[in-house]
Amino acid sequence: MLTVSVCVGSSCHLKGAYAVIKELQRLIEEFSLREKIELKACFCLGQCQQGVSVMVNDRIYTGLTKENTAEFFHRHLLKEGQGRQ
Ligand code: FES
Repeated sequence: MLTVSVCVGSSCHLKGAYAVIKELQRLIEEFSLREKIELKACFCLGQCQQGVSVMVNDRIYTGLTKENTAEFFHRHLLKEGQGRQ
């Protein structure tokens, strides 16, 4: 299981964290990965200047937007998610 935590702290919230979550939910659904990827909201990951911030297991990624979420998903989540039990 891949755990994906999207920061919804105030800075990331203002930068569109909920739009990122919605887009990730849509993609997880589209690729039938609900059993493989756990999507969560979390609070401040300490990268407020570069939000929206996302933690995938223990790695932090920054700079997510609604527009680049699909690219992020394909690059960092899809393959790994499909390989997980
Ligand atoms: S509010 Fe998101 S990293 Fe601080």
